[in-house]
Amino acid sequence: MTTFAFDVYGTLINTYGMVDLLQRYIGEDKAMPFATLWRDKQLEYSFRRSMMDRYEPFYTCTSNSLDYCIEAFDVNMTADQRFSLIKRYQTLPVYKDVIGCLSSISERSDFNIYALTNGPHEDIERLFEDVAIRQYFKDIVSVDEIGKYKPDRAVYSHFLKRSGASAEDSYLVSGNAFDVIGASSYGMKSIFIRRTKQQIMDPWGGKPTHTIQSLAELEGLFERRTSN
Ligand code: LAC
Repeated sequence: MTTFAFDVYGTLINTYGMVDLLQRYIGEDKAMPFATLWRDKQLEYSFRRSMMDRYEPFYTCTSNSLDYCIEAFDVNMTADQRFSLIKRYQTLPVYKDVIGCLSSISERSDFNIYALTNGPHEDIERLFEDVAIRQYFKDIVSVDEIGKYKPDRAVYSHFLKRSGASAEDSYLVSGNAFDVIGASSYGMKSIFIRRTKQQIMDPWGGKPTHTIQSLAELEGLFERRTSN
């Protein structure tokens, strides 16, 4: 049995799905750099909260990092616009390759499919229902259950306990290099989803077991076992 732990934001869900709103609110030029800093700061805040033992749910990191960016870019944003951005973050779209991949691998009896996410359980349940992918997952494992963020070792350890899988039969699937390295350091296998050239692996900490450019390539990495 092979177990998959799919990361959510940046892997299944497009964290740039609010750029159209940002374009309207702060202009074409600033929208993409703003969205990039927002994501970077959101993750930085999660890392720091984990290290400082000051866990708060992921939306606190999302909200605090948005405020940081508003100040850093020195933009005027109304309370309504800020609210719309936060709301949009709760309803971000899936990448185009997600449904096809999940629907085909979920038919395999030799695969167990989980989500392993920084997002709280109920937020991810709602998000998955909205984008119609909840049925493909055996369960959603959230860092909220232990109060530590990825790539803390406790997160991967918790995942293996929850899923009952062994590290050597489990693949972390992620578009986030820090997550791939975190899981590999813990002894799990990993698949790095590199949809764009800008997504690069860090030059330290280990290499993913596989790197693919689209989730459409995932199933092809695993030979279908035929019974006779
Ligand atoms: C998640 C973060 C890593 O979904 O994006 O867990």
